Amino acid sequence: MILVTGATGTVGSALLPILAERGASVRALAHSQAGRAAIEAHGAEAVDGDFDRPETLERAMAGCDRVFLLSPASPAQAGRERRAIDIAGQAGVAHVVALSVMGASHDSPMGFARWHAEIDDHLAAAGVGHTILRPAGFMQSHLLPVDTVRAEGAWYGMTGDGASGFIDAADIAAVAAHVLTTDGHEGATYEVTGPESISMPQAAAQLSEVIGGDVRYVDVPADGFRANLAGAGLPDWLADSLVALYGAIRAGHAATVTNEVEKATGRPARPYRQFAENHRDAFAAA
Ligand SMILES: NC(=O)c1ccc[n+]([C@@H]2O[C@H](COP(=O)([O-])OP(=O)(O)OC[C@H]3O[C@@H](n4cnc5c(N)ncnc54)[C@H](OP(=O)(O)O)[C@@H]3O)[C@@H](O)[C@H]2O)c1
Repeated sequence: MILVTGATGTVGSALLPILAERGASVRALAHSQAGRAAIEAHGAEAVDGDFDRPETLERAMAGCDRVFLLSPASPAQAGRERRAIDIAGQAGVAHVVALSVMGASHDSPMGFARWHAEIDDHLAAAGVGHTILRPAGFMQSHLLPVDTVRAEGAWYGMTGDGASGFIDAADIAAVAAHVLTTDGHEGATYEVTGPESISMPQAAAQLSEVIGGDVRYVDVPADGFRANLAGAGLPDWLADSLVALYGAIRAGHAATVTNEVEKATGRPARPYRQFAENHRDAFAAA
């Protein structure tokens, strides 16, 4: 039995159908009533659970041999996932597959990269079988400013011509499904990216072609960009982390591309154009 946490989120909701296709026995943590229905629609067993209520994790992990560990980025993340790893060890789980982030490091200026480094170290030392997946930025994050893109035909950013190996969350899910259902990944860390390194102006150009409209990438100074994020209600830790991340992309430090998706699935990772085509309607009014 595989326990999937984060099952109703961006990666988890793509993972459940792949595991179902593979005939895996899956239990998934439901954080809400709506989540239960989404989980059961994929033929998985839904179990109520909350990372902040350890007893629910104990119940959810009982009888599971593998766990997919994912929780949302937050200052509480490291504490939550460290505890979940300990509970997995006590429950006799054989293998934990943890979703981390590319660039996870204790001295990163990005909060989420420091929290993932803490979680990854804890997992490596926990005495439980494990595999760590470190994805690049999700293409799906580009859906967040879609209202502005639709209203203004403008996409504001601060990455200049810096490129990044953005990955479709469906490909992260495909790699996770492979690792969860095959052997030979013990102790491995996989850096998972899309097939190409692409800049925001290039992404905007591809979106323009796909929707037959004009999406202009507008580069703004870091201070103004951060003020916009704060104005949109993002907490300080997230605004600061994103500014640090986009600064790193701008400086060319996030352009790495790997072939882990192809190694795991036997086909190349989905290119940005395919993501744009799959989400044409979301951007279409631009
Ligand atoms: N976005 C990126 O570009 C990027 C890049 C690399 C790595 N990552 C990492 O990816 C992870 C986020 O993945 P995602 O985007 O798939 O997540 P997501 O869409 O935010 O989904 C989070 C999932 O966790 C559940 N959840 C939230 N709070 C919970 C709690 N207290 N107890 C139990 N479950 C809870 C949510 O359920 P409900 O919806 O029902 O609350 C949902 O299923 C983070 O670790 C992040 O650091 C992100």
